Amino acid sequence: MKANCWYGKTTVSVEEVPDPQILNQRDAIVKISSTAICGSDLHLYNGFIPTMQRGDILGHEFMGEVVEVGREVKNLKIGDRVVVPFPIACGKCYFCKEQMFSLCENSNPNAWMAEKAFGHAAAGIFGYSHLTGGYAGGQAEYARVPFADVGPIKVPEYLSDEQVLFLSDIFPTGYMGAEMCDIKPGDTIAIWGCGPVGQFAIRSALMLGAGRVIAIDEIPERLAMAEAGGAETIDFSKSDVYDELMKRTGKRGPDSCIDAVGCEASGHGAADAVLDKVKAATFLAIDRVHVLRQAIMCCRKAGTVSIPGVYVGLGDKIPLGAAMNKGLTIKTGQTHVQAYTKSLLQRIEAGDIDPSFVVTHPASREDAPAMYKKFRDKEDGVIKVVLRPGR
Ligand SMILES: NC(=O)c1ccc[n+]([C@@H]2O[C@H](COP(=O)([O-])OP(=O)(O)OC[C@H]3O[C@@H](n4cnc5c(N)ncnc54)[C@H](O)[C@@H]3O)[C@@H](O)[C@H]2O)c1
Ligand SMILES: [Zn+2]
Ligand SMILES: [Zn+2]
Repeated sequence: MKANCWYGKTTVSVEEVPDPQILNQRDAIVKISSTAICGSDLHLYNGFIPTMQRGDILGHEFMGEVVEVGREVKNLKIGDRVVVPFPIACGKCYFCKEQMFSLCENSNPNAWMAEKAFGHAAAGIFGYSHLTGGYAGGQAEYARVPFADVGPIKVPEYLSDEQVLFLSDIFPTGYMGAEMCDIKPGDTIAIWGCGPVGQFAIRSALMLGAGRVIAIDEIPERLAMAEAGGAETIDFSKSDVYDELMKRTGKRGPDSCIDAVGCEASGHGAADAVLDKVKAATFLAIDRVHVLRQAIMCCRKAGTVSIPGVYVGLGDKIPLGAAMNKGLTIKTGQTHVQAYTKSLLQRIEAGDIDPSFVVTHPASREDAPAMYKKFRDKEDGVIKVVLRPGR
């Protein structure tokens, strides 16, 4: 089959690779109808995530048709149309039982690597380095889906791929980012990053009762999409974010702050951001934590800082003193996608939200090398790329 493979920093190539096979009786094989490129894939593309190997198949946002099932998969049959959550989860361990699927104890065969890096291993993830299990991803013709009796969700035919595909990641991720803020009716939520995750966080915060959402980015079309979703906006290349947020909240600060940017934040010349960049380039630190610092400084006393943005390793000069003295709560995590798919599909079916709004670049899977670059460089108004075979 054809698959999009990682061949080192900024190199993605469409290769002929062996078809996946059922290896375990709880596996299914899915023929991919649509797959998307995620901001998280850019961390791989830009060489931020260790333990990638040349030839690894990319992609953790995908859906398609079940073409083969193992004997123990009773809930799916050949021909079912499914969306596949990006974390791989067994459904039976302590964390799965507690609905914390991205922390599954049984899905990362390279747990020893993650234990060295993080103290404990999180779940396996499709197409996301050997630290998260070395699983082949879904930017391919077919994918093997382990624990297929737990993850995949069947979706009705009348909804298009673009309306349901993002149940695999970015819709639940934006939603969990907002849910972690424990929003009270009327709260003001500030959201850094108007990429796809930020866009879903904006809409989710409003669905969860926020009175105001203030979204921060510098890319005009992303700010415009945030406004279309009901947010006020701040262009961080034009105004000082702290001053602006204080002005707009009577000096109190937002009730909660969401970092939907993560480890590759740009800093527009701010001293801390310049230092981050130098340190990242010289391997003295990995993460550029400019946004997280700003969120901690801006958040109102006793507020919550929610971090769906991905961090990898060591970030420094995090203002712990501010967090401690202001009594902040900090929450973060890879999304527990399986815990959200059913209820968010119901929201789509009810017409509360149509996730296809975020797609700006439908493309063919073979266009992946060019689309990765375009998405990384935010050229041509790109916000979300969806790849289909032979489009
Ligand atoms: N927790 C999870 O499970 C999970 C799942 C999916 C994605 N993510 C992470 O969420 C983050 C966003 O993903 P995305 O797909 O939206 O990515 P994206 O690259 O499309 O968007 C990031 C946005 O952040 C903006 N930005 C950069 N520096 C900024 C700053 N200083 N202030 C405000 N905005 C700034 C960029 O202009 C861009 O629009 C990534 O770190 C991604 O890895 C996490
Ligand atoms: Zn993703
Ligand atoms: Zn588990």
